Amino acid sequence: MTGYGADTTTGEVLEGLDLTGRHFMITGASSGLGEESARSLSQAGATVTILARNLEKLEAAKERIQGSVPSADLRIGIVDLADLGSIRVYAESFLAKGVAIDVLINNAGIMACPFMKTTDGFEMQFGTNHIGHFLLTNLLMPAIKAGENPRIINLSSAGHTHSDVNLDDPNFDTTEYSAWESYGRSKSANIHFTRELVRRYGKQIQSFAVHPGVILTDLGRHLTPELMEEMTERVKARSTSSAEAKKTGGLPFKSMEAGAATQVWAATTNDLRPNNGAYLGDCQVGIEGGNPSENGYLSYIYNEDTAKALWALSEKLVKQEFPTN
Ligand SMILES: NC(=O)c1ccc[n+]([C@@H]2O[C@H](COP(=O)([O-])OP(=O)(O)OC[C@H]3O[C@@H](n4cnc5c(N)ncnc54)[C@H](OP(=O)(O)O)[C@@H]3O)[C@@H](O)[C@H]2O)c1
Repeated sequence: MTGYGADTTTGEVLEGLDLTGRHFMITGASSGLGEESARSLSQAGATVTILARNLEKLEAAKERIQGSVPSADLRIGIVDLADLGSIRVYAESFLAKGVAIDVLINNAGIMACPFMKTTDGFEMQFGTNHIGHFLLTNLLMPAIKAGENPRIINLSSAGHTHSDVNLDDPNFDTTEYSAWESYGRSKSANIHFTRELVRRYGKQIQSFAVHPGVILTDLGRHLTPELMEEMTERVKARSTSSAEAKKTGGLPFKSMEAGAATQVWAATTNDLRPNNGAYLGDCQVGIEGGNPSENGYLSYIYNEDTAKALWALSEKLVKQEFPTN
């Protein structure tokens, strides 16, 4: 649709765009794809609020971005997505400023960690990757609705293919814990959340779910040789893997600039209006049944009933309802 592909970079996506006056907010911006998104958007003139849970790491990321883009207009905020209290405190203080958000990029994530729980007792990957962003987004909705051409970008992953959400046992209370299944559930949740946002707010707000590709970042900090082996076997067994991946189980790695390109594209292009709610990969609209390492997705992530039920469950878990108005 665009001539873009796996190698397209943030610089190419933003070429010629002047984002002066537009306000982007990015979670998990203290490293990796969040930091590169903030850097590239700053380079194009945007005001960027970078969020993370660790002030020291966030300050270091801010310095790196300013080193690369001296004119960067950066604001910082501390939010721990594994703590509903922290999210509420941040959202309240942000809303009190009366500042609009044109684009929220829900980028923070944790992958394949050992079984752990958030402050509020949710399984860590579901709690951080989905529930934390669900609450943050809904609390910030007045600021997003006040934005110009507003949108919400949710980082998902080809990892959605590991599993759909489990609405009966979201926190692995009765199911045996599997680090990959948990990641898959949480990354499927990111897509269902995107779909339900569009069903509810699609006239005013655009929302997209993004698979960035495979990029070497701190996301792999919990990977063990066993978890790597499990992933390799899955990639080999996938009918939609490339011939090379079927043989080796290897995944195509991208540079940081190519990895962040799809989320930055989703956050800035006007070409995707007819595809509101789509899953994206390699700077392309997703293809059902395609290669998940590229832009392929499994059909269960577009199930409207699941999306509605996940929203209802999420409201129950955060003990707050967010009626559409
Ligand atoms: N890299 C890939 O190959 C790949 C592939 C598919 C999808 N993704 C998705 O891309 C997104 C960005 O990942 P990345 O690769 O850039 O990884 P990363 O470098 O590890 O960045 C993740 C960010 O999320 C933050 N974070 C984690 N837990 C948090 C919490 N409880 N509260 C607030 N922030 C938290 C991290 O902060 P701390 O450092 O303090 O933990 C970090 O800033 C994730 O959603 C991931 O699932 C990445």
